[in-house]
Amino acid sequence: MTITYRDLLKQAQRDFTNPKDAEYVVQTLLNKPRHELFTFQKVDNPNIINRYHKLLMRYQPNMPVQYLVNKAYFLDYELYVDHRVMIPRFETEELVMKTAQKIRNPHLIIDIGTGSGAIAIALAHLFPQAKIIATDISPDALDVAQINVDKYQLQNRIILTLGDLFPNQNNWKQKVDLIISNPPYIPEDEIKKLPPLVKNYEPLLALNGGKNGFELIQRIIENGVKFLNPSGLLALEIDPRQVELIKSMKLSREFEKDNQGMIRYAFAKYKN
Ligand SMILES: C[S@@+](CC[C@H](N)C(=O)[O-])C[C@H]1O[C@@H](n2cnc3c(N)ncnc32)[C@H](O)[C@@H]1O
Repeated sequence: MTITYRDLLKQAQRDFTNPKDAEYVVQTLLNKPRHELFTFQKVDNPNIINRYHKLLMRYQPNMPVQYLVNKAYFLDYELYVDHRVMIPRFETEELVMKTAQKIRNPHLIIDIGTGSGAIAIALAHLFPQAKIIATDISPDALDVAQINVDKYQLQNRIILTLGDLFPNQNNWKQKVDLIISNPPYIPEDEIKKLPPLVKNYEPLLALNGGKNGFELIQRIIENGVKFLNPSGLLALEIDPRQVELIKSMKLSREFEKDNQGMIRYAFAKYKN
């Protein structure tokens, strides 16, 4: 029997709870642009149907489809993801693009809490002269980031480092031009209220920002000064409720909104 792209999509729309997930799975399997999913082209590779059935066996309603197909998109990059890392978000794409508009030709960058490596990989392409030190406290997350760094052949430019926020200062003497981070910033007592899609699947370590969601941000701001050039930029993704806490700290800062109109980014300098 001949199966067309459109048949496969219709089948997926019956099998998956969310129609967007159905599209995501079929698009990933066929590796075609979205508009082609609606055509009568034949699925001529039987492996695609086999892979479809295997994915379906692993599928649970309310699981993030990116973990099912082990793929997430971040700006122009297709990243491997699994349960060891947070799925990169649109808001973080904006963090990268806004930051890139504020800084010229950085040579050295620290990406704190790199997860899948999304921010580091995008910045490495935006700033071809830059080297990036990408830290994470989770060895599992660093294993995933390594897969993505290898995929984009950035081993010489992105150095993945296990660390509690910053690289180990005993081995680290150079100052950097940019510190960027999308740290965990959800207040600890709100984790249980998150949608099942997030709280049941994404790593707690990637979500939990402690009291007020501010513990890691506070430590980044307090310690960043030791690593940043005097004219360097600190770029953070934040929760809008953290604005006043950041304002109470000693540094010059400005805030920007995300495309939902929420204050989502803090850009700071230690010196005016
Ligand atoms: C919100 S996720 C962001 C992941 C990725 N940068 C992104 O934007 O998609 C936060 C990341 O910070 C890491 N993390 C949590 N606590 C940390 C710490 N104390 N030091 C370094 N990384 C930490 C988590 O393991 C997780 O990968």
